[in-house]
Amino acid sequence: MNDRRTRYPGPIAEAKKHPHTLNARGFAADAALAQVLDTYPAHLIDINLYDYDDEGQASLKTGARGRLSGEGLLEAIQGGRLWVNLRGVETGCPALWAAAMEAFKDIQATYPGMKAVKNAGQLILSSPAAKVPYHFDASGVVLFHMRGRKRLFVYPGDETHLPEIAMEQVVARQTAEEIPYSRAFEAYARVIDLEPGEALTWPLYAPHRVENLDRFCVSLSMDFQTWPSRLRNGALYTNAVLRSRGLSPRFTDGMAMPELAARWAASLALKRVGGLKSRIATFERDFEPEIGAADGAGAIRA
Ligand SMILES: [Fe+2]
Repeated sequence: MNDRRTRYPGPIAEAKKHPHTLNARGFAADAALAQVLDTYPAHLIDINLYDYDDEGQASLKTGARGRLSGEGLLEAIQGGRLWVNLRGVETGCPALWAAAMEAFKDIQATYPGMKAVKNAGQLILSSPAAKVPYHFDASGVVLFHMRGRKRLFVYPGDETHLPEIAMEQVVARQTAEEIPYSRAFEAYARVIDLEPGEALTWPLYAPHRVENLDRFCVSLSMDFQTWPSRLRNGALYTNAVLRSRGLSPRFTDGMAMPELAARWAASLALKRVGGLKSRIATFERDFEPEIGAADGAGAIRA
């Protein structure tokens, strides 16, 4: 039987829930969140507002941190349509991070051969009707859900749903766009609802999207690299550079470990000499969170 939902090797063959207790320890309560928002470094806060057309294609507006207090920003999120990522939880919320790493170790122990060499996290605060578009993460992910309810759609990691050339572009930061999405993919989605106290993992690189289910949601998204994921990301980067020079490297999904390792080593050398310049500009912000404004997004104040 082959129930793997991805063409990439790795210990996680399919999306699976695991229990955790982070929510029971008060990390997602209003007062705790307001305090976190009050002190969190503004450069580590991403405030996103997604819109969708009739075909389900997303467009993104981004917000500046603005001047709201932590309590005010929390209220704007709870009454708006915002998706707020607090990056660098490792340093931004050390107590939450320590608890999450304990929980991660328990989950990792259930997958023989899985060994994370680097973990990082973002605390996600999102409005009751917010949705995140179809994308993949160039890492393993454990999504610890702590408050509200959300629905995860996880898709197969095959060339149709996850084309390697598009992955290369994302890994090499040549596009802020995500991988291509079509409504036809929905027939292949695994749909999983998450309640507080549930964590979800899925196969490395598996495309996914998220819809909140009518409540303010709090989750900790932990991403992790293993040596195999590091090597493959390096190989994808090297392939992006080769492709930018008019070559047609073969896809990494047909490469064995020695070839992946060689391409990873090449990626380190390429990055040292400036390889590919990121084409993702530090873009202008479109709005500032505002309590009572449409979607929680008010005009930028000078
Ligand atoms: Fe993701």
